[in-house]
Amino acid sequence: MLTRIVNGRIWKDGNILEKDILIEDEKILDLIRKGQKVQVDRILDAKGALILPGLVDAHTHLRDSRISYKEDFVSGTSAAVAGGFTVVLDMPNTEPPITSPERLEDRIASARKKILCDVGFYAMPLYMDKIEDLVRTGCIGFKIYTHKSFEEINFFEDETIDKLFKAVEKTGLTLSIHAEDPSKIGYLGEKYNAIEHARAHSIEAEVNMIKRILNLAKKYNLKIRFCHISTAEGIKIVAGEKRYSLNYFTEVTPAHLTLDESILHKYDKICVVEPPIRGKEDVIFLRKMFWNGVIDIIGTDHAPHTLDEKLCDRPAPGFPGLETAVPVLFTLAKKGFIPFSKLIESLTSNPARIFNLNGYGAIDKDNVSNLTFLKFVPEYEIDSSKFYSKAKFTPFKGFKAETIVTRTIVRGETVYDRESGVIDERRGKVIKH
Ligand code: NCD
Ligand code: ZN
Repeated sequence: MLTRIVNGRIWKDGNILEKDILIEDEKILDLIRKGQKVQVDRILDAKGALILPGLVDAHTHLRDSRISYKEDFVSGTSAAVAGGFTVVLDMPNTEPPITSPERLEDRIASARKKILCDVGFYAMPLYMDKIEDLVRTGCIGFKIYTHKSFEEINFFEDETIDKLFKAVEKTGLTLSIHAEDPSKIGYLGEKYNAIEHARAHSIEAEVNMIKRILNLAKKYNLKIRFCHISTAEGIKIVAGEKRYSLNYFTEVTPAHLTLDESILHKYDKICVVEPPIRGKEDVIFLRKMFWNGVIDIIGTDHAPHTLDEKLCDRPAPGFPGLETAVPVLFTLAKKGFIPFSKLIESLTSNPARIFNLNGYGAIDKDNVSNLTFLKFVPEYEIDSSKFYSKAKFTPFKGFKAETIVTRTIVRGETVYDRESGVIDERRGKVIKH
């Protein structure tokens, strides 16, 4: 099937091209001049939209399996395409966590036929003797949590982290790290609110763990991606190391780039997230680092829970992010708070490069025909009741956005458009490293 996309403004390597796109099934065939004669099977009218390479979210928790009540492959990838994402990289802290090749294999098999966009899967490298088999099974990278145990194993001590670095270095894959030093996290009792939670998950916890990791990583040639950096001090330290090494990558979330602690007073437990929402100075500094080219990836950290789990005495950390990322981030860019072209790179070419997603992240000949169409519109308020995610709440409630996703194309077919909503075509494929 040969399709011609007309009336779009195409984002290509930092330029906006007034051209048409030819796609043949799952591939981008060419960019052609407007008006150039070509025999095609159908014409798709972009109606003036800005056409980006299909967005990639390198930090999604799709859940499913035993925690499908929070989110499952269908609802999670529906939220993805409604939010303009055509690729999501799924985090391994599922129930049970993805710690063995068998579990990874099962997860991949169960995702096939249920996913509306392309999905890659991280694995959790708890057992050194399973790492090679996890790679063989096709994990896209590894992810660890430094502040929590899984299956009674943790990475609290330098010695265990060092062993892990040595083992992951051999694989050549990227190690993603949730960096919080558990010895610097305050005690949280049986009952806490967002402010108490934020105080416990101190700035020092993040900064200390980043320092420890960088210190240990020196010996190795290991690619490390620091997930959701939330503090000025934390990103400053990584920025310093990035001047001497190409091995370190930074990720920031839309929430940490937008919201400050005043939101904790407003929406309280809904906002609980790890790492927590910080002060205004941190938000401003993260934005500055974005302008300076220090931020590589924007990850949504889409972390759905039920409303009960959020509003109880010990609120679960995290909130959905796939359907708010584009409206929030492109509005910030439009207002001049964050750099427009770097924002696009952080959602397309950068994650594609860092995770070796060949065929993704750019509108190039022979790449996968994944595309995201955006439009700038008059102000409207974010409304979580319309989410496709099962988690219908957000700390961005009432945020005045000026950007919408008008269409999402996965492998040559529309899976979301503004008028019809999500079109339940499960065209997504599992991406292996
Ligand atoms: C994540 C989740 O719910 O899976 N929550 C969060 O607050 N970010 C876990 C995590 O990344 O720590
Ligand atoms: Zn995390």
